[in-house]
Order: sequence, then structure tokens, then C-alpha cells
Amino acid sequence: MQKYFLKSAKIALVLVYLVIFAGAFVRLTGSGMGCPDWPKCFGYYIPPTDQKELLFTPSKEYTKGQVIIKEEALWVAKEDFVATDRFENSNWTAYEKHDYAIFNPIHTWVEYINRLLGALAGIACIVTFVLSFGYRKHQKNLIYLSFIVCVLMAFQAWLGKTVVDSVLSPYKITTHMLAALLILAIQLVVIYSVKTNNKPLVFNTKFNTILLVSLVLTIIQIVLGTDVREHVDIVSKTGAPEIMWLQNPTVIFYIHRSFSILVLAINAFLFYMNSKLNLNASKLKWVMYLLAFEIISGIAMYYFDFPFGTQTIHIVLATLLFGVQFYLVLESYSQRKKQL
Ligand code: HEM
Repeated sequence: MQKYFLKSAKIALVLVYLVIFAGAFVRLTGSGMGCPDWPKCFGYYIPPTDQKELLFTPSKEYTKGQVIIKEEALWVAKEDFVATDRFENSNWTAYEKHDYAIFNPIHTWVEYINRLLGALAGIACIVTFVLSFGYRKHQKNLIYLSFIVCVLMAFQAWLGKTVVDSVLSPYKITTHMLAALLILAIQLVVIYSVKTNNKPLVFNTKFNTILLVSLVLTIIQIVLGTDVREHVDIVSKTGAPEIMWLQNPTVIFYIHRSFSILVLAINAFLFYMNSKLNLNASKLKWVMYLLAFEIISGIAMYYFDFPFGTQTIHIVLATLLFGVQFYLVLESYSQRKKQL
């Protein structure tokens, strides 16, 4: 069991990142409402590819929960039945959770693949939890941590559903993102605890403290970023073109933009300290690359009116940055424990 545990935990981590990427792509392409219902999609396990499949069809066999679009409204089959020649109200209930009734196959399939990846990541987390029982004698905490990850994944799935029901309320999207960071953090703790080839950092209290501060700054910057994104969502939903999305930004945007200088400066200092004192924190190189591309994508969004893909890149890089920094903190923390 132990042999497969680390592999399974790593696969789960990669899948969680893929889900974050897919979620960001869903938003970029505006596919969030591609499936109006949840967990099924238009009442199907495999969604339709053609609008025709969603129109009322005489003599067609409908199953309970199946959805059709009629007069720009969604209707849900009450029971299994075979349709007569006419649309009969008694067979259908109006879908009332929202009034979004558009079918766009690309949106539907982008959202559907996002959900499939979510399900795969969930399964990987459950498998990891089951395998964690191999550690029940010596490292019981792995069982608890793997279980918390499963609970958080279920919470994310539930939140995904409420996000659909509330037509993508920005507040819920932000919670969704912060919960994703928590999942990543716990999964990294799990992986780090069982890895045997961890390379120790050279102990340096000042470096470790600044490293922790830099992680906290990144988290603050991510929270500020989600606020900027909420503003962008509100403006873009009015149908305004990209050029107007940040024409009158909130003060939080300016704080977010300037804050990145602080984040960059503190990490550049850590990088400098690491090279000067040979502390073995080689992952700082990745932190610097990720930060550079993060800032470039932010600049591109603001000064070049959100070129295609930059929103997705910005969010995915932010979560990768968090992951690498969190891992570095784990390395410094365990090395401190060894010294005590
Ligand atoms: C340390 C560097 C940075 C980090 C970690 C960071 C992180 C984030 C995060 C996590 C979001 C929320 C994404 C979402 O919820 O979809 C965001 C949004 C945003 N950030 Fe940054 N950011 C950084 C630097 C910058 C810079 C330098 C700029 C501009 C000059 C910028 C402009 C924006 C904009 C315009 C949004 C809204 C994006 C959207 O609507 O999808 N960011 N940022």
C-alpha cells in the first residue's frame, strides 16, 4: 500500500492543478453556464453536441430530469415518458434556479470536461485516502490529512453546484479559489511527509522567517487579485468590451498592482540570500520565473486589454507560485525540526 501512496498523492496533486487550469479556461471562454444543471448536463451524463437534441421532439422517449429548451426557457421532464405530438405542460416543470437557456456546444463541452477532470481528481483523492491506511501504525496524521482533502474536494464540488445555481456569484468563485489553495497545501504536506529523498536546506533563521513572510504576502496578493477579478466580472458581464474592463478600477486594483513590487522584492532578496549563503533552496529559481510571468501576464491584461489566455495564465501561475513557495516553507520547517 505504502508503495503506491506517494504516486497516488502526486497524481491527485497534478489533477487538482489540471482542474484549476480547466476552471480558469471555463471562465476565459465564458463556459460556466455551458451546463445549466449539476451534476448532469442538460439532464444527460454525456451532454448533447447539437441544439436539435434539446428541442422538443414528438414521439421521443424522455427520462426524468432530461432538459429541453423551449421559447428561451429550460424545461425539465418530471418522469420517464414518451412524448405525444404536442408539448404537454403536465409532463414538464419549468427550471427555476436561473433563466439562462442558451445552448453553445463549445461552452457545454468545455464545462463538461472541467467537471470530468474534477471527478477524476476526486477519485484520485479518495484512492489516496484509502492507501493512507498503510500508514496507520506510524503516521496516522496521513489518514486524517488525506481525509480532509476528500472533504474539501466534496465541498468544492458542492460549491461548484451552488456557483451554477447562482449564475456564477463572484463571492462564491473567490471561496472556490481559496479552498483550492487549501487543498494544494494539504496535499503538499502529505507528499512531503512520505518523500524519502527530501534535500535539506541549510538552516538559517532569517531566511526561514522571510520565506514565511513571502508566502503570506503571496496569499494576500491572491486575495487582492480575486477582488480585482470580481470587479472585472461585474464589468464584463454588462457586455462591455475588454478595453473597458479596467477603465475605472477599484482602489484594490492599484494596491494589487503595486503589491506585486513588494512580492517581487522580497523574493528577489531571498534568491540573493540563497545564492550568497548556498542555502540549497533551489526552488527559488522557479519562484522567480513564475513571478516574472505572473507580473507580465498582469501587465498584459491591464495595458493590452486582456489578450486571449492571459486571465487563465495569471490564475494558474498564481496557484503554482503558491505551491512552490509553500513547498519551500515545508522544506525549511522540517529542517528546523531536525535542528531542534
Ligand atoms: C505577485 C504578482 C501577482 C499575483 C500573485 C497575482 C495574483 C492574482 C490572482 C490570484 C488573481 C485572481 C484571478 C482569478 O480569481 O481569476 C489576479 C487577478 C488579476 N490581477 Fe494579478 N497578480 C499579480 C500581479 C499582477 C499585476 C502586476 C497586475 C497588473 C499590472 C495584475 C493584474 C490583475 C488583473 C487585471 C486581475 C483580474 C484578472 C481577471 O479578471 O481574470 N496582477 N491576480
